[in-house]
Amino acid sequence: MLMERFRSVLPIGPRTPILTLGEGATPLVRAPRLGAAIGASDLWLKVEGANPTGSFKDRGMVVAVAKAVESGARAVVCASTGNTSASAAAYAAAAGIEAVVLLPAGKIAAGKLLQAFAAGAKVVSIRGNFDDALEIVRELGAAGGGVEIVNSINPHRIAGQATAAHEIVADLGGAPDALALPVGNAGNISAYWRGFTDAAAAGASAKRPRMIGVQAAGAAPLVSGAPIANPETVATAIRIGKPASWESAIAARDESGGLIDSVTDAEILRAQEEIIRLGGIFVEPACAAPIAGLRNLIASGRVDRSARIVAVMTGFGLKDPDTASRLIGEIREADATLAGVRSALGW
Ligand code: F0G
Repeated sequence: MLMERFRSVLPIGPRTPILTLGEGATPLVRAPRLGAAIGASDLWLKVEGANPTGSFKDRGMVVAVAKAVESGARAVVCASTGNTSASAAAYAAAAGIEAVVLLPAGKIAAGKLLQAFAAGAKVVSIRGNFDDALEIVRELGAAGGGVEIVNSINPHRIAGQATAAHEIVADLGGAPDALALPVGNAGNISAYWRGFTDAAAAGASAKRPRMIGVQAAGAAPLVSGAPIANPETVATAIRIGKPASWESAIAARDESGGLIDSVTDAEILRAQEEIIRLGGIFVEPACAAPIAGLRNLIASGRVDRSARIVAVMTGFGLKDPDTASRLIGEIREADATLAGVRSALGW
């Protein structure tokens, strides 16, 4: 359990309840066929979809909800593109407090919305986007009344998410040359950089990786350098125009000698299919952004093809069944006989 394993790097005091749904300790798997397809000879995937609610959000949420309980909160509240709400709803349910989630209307993948409802969260659909929802959440939190914000502007979320970097360092015996991940509100890139920095300071790694952030072309404010009023992308998880952790994401990029790039929706959909068909890991569209980005960056020489690269697969594929439904193929009907099946297979 994450809070116990990483007690020394987390804000855990004697009165902090230790919560767990089994988050963290996710697989780090080599992906040689996928690597070959994008020109990378030493590619690894950190499979964060293996967390209890199917995304990396659980790492920070377990800490944020535990701290909310410690402070006597009666409710947690968040704005979300889906995964934060699924995670907040689950941890609040387990902790016995209320979860309120503000979601951009019509833009939440079906699996994520179902998760929030299933766990009993109060779901509010905002006639606006994620950035509008986060503004309102900030106001709700500022009003007090035992309501704790569990977006990544809550520092406990970042502390919890930084544990993924420690796991990678432990599994590989040091940091990789580069870490690639999708960037939306920019909390996770900030958390990883902090984790790698702390691991290096503690002597667990001789170096820190280049941080490679990838945004969707229609929602790439960190690439263009200015907020975007109406972000759009098929990768709804990262459909964000005004990232809350803007400065720390830029700092992670610059201090690491890394970069933040963007990819088109077509590139994202192609890479989502390659990750499952060549790597065996089924991910939601946002996770395809770093793979699509790496292909471009390796081709243009901005990332070394022989570098050891870890790409973070932040969320599970079944979160967004509608976008994945294009991958459903022809069903081969057959008589219930060996001959029938052979004939359907063309064998
Ligand atoms: N990947 C997935 C699957 C996500 O759900 C998110 C963010 C990101 C990447 C980007 O991480 O925001 O730290 O840069 N999802 C948030 C949510 C915004 O509400 O679930 P980030």
